[in-house]
Parts: sequence; C-alpha cells; structure tokens
Amino acid sequence: MINGRTIDIAPSILSADFSRLGEEIAAVERGGASILHVDVMDGHFVPNLTIGLPVVKSLARATELPMDAHLMISEPGRYAQQFVEAGASMVSVHIEADAHLHRTLTLIRAAGAQAGVVLNPATPIEALSEALPFADYVLVMSVNPGFGGQKFIETATDKVRRLRRMIEERQLAVRIEIDGGIDLENIASVVAAGAEIIVAGSAIFGAPDPEAAVRGLREATVQCV
Ligand code: DX5
Ligand code: ZN
Repeated sequence: MINGRTIDIAPSILSADFSRLGEEIAAVERGGASILHVDVMDGHFVPNLTIGLPVVKSLARATELPMDAHLMISEPGRYAQQFVEAGASMVSVHIEADAHLHRTLTLIRAAGAQAGVVLNPATPIEALSEALPFADYVLVMSVNPGFGGQKFIETATDKVRRLRRMIEERQLAVRIEIDGGIDLENIASVVAAGAEIIVAGSAIFGAPDPEAAVRGLREATVQCV
C-alpha cells in the first residue's frame, strides 16, 4: 500500500519462455507479482499474433494469481465473455477497437470480471468521458501495442496524471494500469502520477532472475511517495 493505494505488479507473459511457462509464473509469484497480464493479439488490430483462449484456460489451472486479459483484437465484444469463462478475472478492451464499448464493458462485468478500457498512446483521455462509469480500470498504453521490449513513450506519465485527476474529480473508483516499456528507471514516476497496476514484460522475463526483477520493481515503487 502506498498512500492508501494498493500497487500491483503485473508481469506480462509475452516476454516469458513459453516452453517453461509454469516455472516462469511460479518465479514471479515468489517475487511478489499480484496479477498475471496476458496479451491477446489477433494480427488485425495489431500487427502480431499471440495467444488465446486455450492458453488462458490452462493458466487458470496453473496459477492462483488473478489473470488480466489485455485484448488487442478487433471487435473484442465477440470474445470478451469467453475470456472470463476461461478464467480471466480482468478483461480489457481497446476503445479504438470497439464500436459498442458500453455493451462490452457491461457484458464483462455481468460475466463476473472487472472491465477495463485501453487507450493507445495517441487516444486522448477525453475519449473516456462517457465510458468511465462503466469501467473498473483504464489501461494507459505507454507503447504502441503489438510487441514487448519497446521504448517507453514519455508523455504517458502526464497522461496518467491527467487521467487520475479526471477520475478523482468525478469521484469514481476506477484504477489506472500502465503497460509498455516499464522498468526500474520509470516505474516510480508512473506510480507517483497515479498508476496502480504496473505491467512489465521484458524488464521481468528478460532479466536473468525474474523473481528478483519483480521484487526490485516493487521496491522501486516504495521510494516514489
Ligand atoms: C504490448 C503489450 C505489453 C508488453 C509489455 O503490446 O501489451 O503488455 O508485453 O512488454 P514490455 O514491458 O517489454 O514493454
Ligand atoms: Zn499488455
């Protein structure tokens, strides 16, 4: 807890060794990860293909951690409920990919999961205006979605700060998640700006010791208050 806020470290398995996924997850659990971030890509909304429902189903049996499915897919409303049924307790959809955002968020909540809205780097926070009351969290992308290991886009920190203000002004209980290029250099400033769920892929699974990497990221957030 930092200033009454709970900070979650959410390793993105995109950068993990998929042939040893169970071991990789056990390591980040020991390091203090509190959420598992799962990147779902369709080769259409983003120029990459990753994993889907069968993997989420298997992971649900392999970990106690809540699973956060980040759907980088077109028409996410067609699949969102299936991800909840497969075991995701958080499901987020891109505002740019869904013409029926309210319906999809409502559907995710009705299925029993937390509903998240994701903003690409060039999408303004004002686009959330109507959807905010129907979301449990907003994911601010700090890289263009599609690949792990990209460089953090610096303007994301101020975007988080402005979004935090917007949420507080409207007295909503919406959490902020940040995803892309997070490392030991920038984690403290995004937490100070108001992010509470911190996704990191290469900074964790690209490190020689993922367990220690999670611990290091968490410790770095303590200094930012
Ligand atoms: C990017 C994904 C991210 C990515 C993060 O499209 O949504 O979750 O895996 O990886 P890093 O931390 O390496 O930027
Ligand atoms: Zn992601």
